[in-house]
Amino acid sequence: MEELEKIVGKDRMSTKSADLYVYGFDASIHHKTPDVVVRVLNTKEVSEIVKLANRTRTPVVPRGAGTAMCGHTVPLKGGIILDLTAMNKIKEVRVEDLYCVVEPGVIYDKLNEVLGAKGFWFPTTPGSGEACTIGGMVVTNASGMRAIKYGATRDYVLGLEVVLPTGDIIHTGTRTLKNSSGYQIDRLMVGSEGTLGVVTEITLKLAFKPKASAMTLAAFNSLHDAGRCVSAIIAKPLMPSAIELMDSVCIKAVNKCMNVGLPDCEAICMIEVDGHPTAVDDELKIVEEICKQTGAISTEATKDKKKIDYWTYARKAIMPSLSRYGEKYVSVALADDMSVPISKIPEAVVAFQKIASDNGVIVGTYGHSADGNLHTKMLVEPYSKESWLAGEKAVGQIYDKVLELGGTVTGEHGVSITKAPYMKKERADSLETMRAIKKALDPKNIMNPGKMFDWEGSIIQHLRYPAFLEQPTECTPQCPK
Ligand code: MLT
Ligand code: ZN
Repeated sequence: MEELEKIVGKDRMSTKSADLYVYGFDASIHHKTPDVVVRVLNTKEVSEIVKLANRTRTPVVPRGAGTAMCGHTVPLKGGIILDLTAMNKIKEVRVEDLYCVVEPGVIYDKLNEVLGAKGFWFPTTPGSGEACTIGGMVVTNASGMRAIKYGATRDYVLGLEVVLPTGDIIHTGTRTLKNSSGYQIDRLMVGSEGTLGVVTEITLKLAFKPKASAMTLAAFNSLHDAGRCVSAIIAKPLMPSAIELMDSVCIKAVNKCMNVGLPDCEAICMIEVDGHPTAVDDELKIVEEICKQTGAISTEATKDKKKIDYWTYARKAIMPSLSRYGEKYVSVALADDMSVPISKIPEAVVAFQKIASDNGVIVGTYGHSADGNLHTKMLVEPYSKESWLAGEKAVGQIYDKVLELGGTVTGEHGVSITKAPYMKKERADSLETMRAIKKALDPKNIMNPGKMFDWEGSIIQHLRYPAFLEQPTECTPQCPK
């Protein structure tokens, strides 16, 4: 503590119990308090702190806005929370070279305000864009509704400055759009979830902002038909900028909570197209035809930005609204972010519903269906042990189905704790390679320890809700050890 104080001063570190308590959360179901929270201002401070942590074998957990959904910033082994939100400068925007350089604490929407004024953007569109930081996006390879057309964070990272677990500072990648210069270490860092170092500067490629966009809201009497509509649009071929699918649980929750008046039906697709205004007009017509061919009971199209924003707002309200679906439930991030091949969406969503009802749990399914990425939020009774155990059992079955369909357990939220056992099943033959990389870079295991391939047992340990007198350490039978 004394040495930390020498690096950042008294005012930017805290061991107050209230601070430690709140910094023990992110947007996941987990909680654990750190020993100290430190708010850093620059790379030099980060490097000195990590050197100190390395020498004293103290765990370090880097943290942006804490919007992670799987426990990424929950300090499982205590130690130092490294709050990077004050490193929030946009250092350079070079539109003529198609890149910008930012610190990790820059908020996604803020960056896009600056880029948008110049006709550019960083288009990955995470659902938490109002709050999430670019650093957090890099280390989770985050994306969102527009990934089908514009890709994920990985596709925009040209270079990184990283403080390694030794405290050494390295610069990976370049400021050019292309490079074939040695190992692509920046690629390794993207999605490394704070286990391989601290990202302290990011060079991002810029994308051109489309001139026009439009959205069709199509209602369906069957979730299966809505799924067919998604793959029919892609197979046409037609490249949408987004297709957001919502099932009836999500529609009911959003209508009840936000009073947004979405069609009361079994499923909705919000289909966005963007580009040149003439192309947008043509594509709207094709989308309309495909919706009708695949069984839409109604469609409404708009080019009005306010209306598009309103529908998008209704979509973004799903997650909080689900917590008010029924009085005794909260919506939790369990099995919440799988991706399947696009053509498998109908089979996947129908299977999820069956698994939910077989296990007596309610699941709301929605997501960025155009790229096969679905979100299933489970409604659990937070203080009921039985409810959590039923949820965990359903999670195992859902992921078994996802893997059987050739999918992945996480499309955009990452692994950390809540996906760990299932990622280990999915990536069984690469786990030793991952461990070897971790060991080479972080032999003392100080960076965000105990997560991903190092997580053991049940995902409903370290819950933020006191549902268990003793933490469950064993998985349910469906959950791989
Ligand atoms: C989203 O799509 O809004 C985010 O990924 C969060 C979520 O709802 O799971
Ligand atoms: Zn999402």
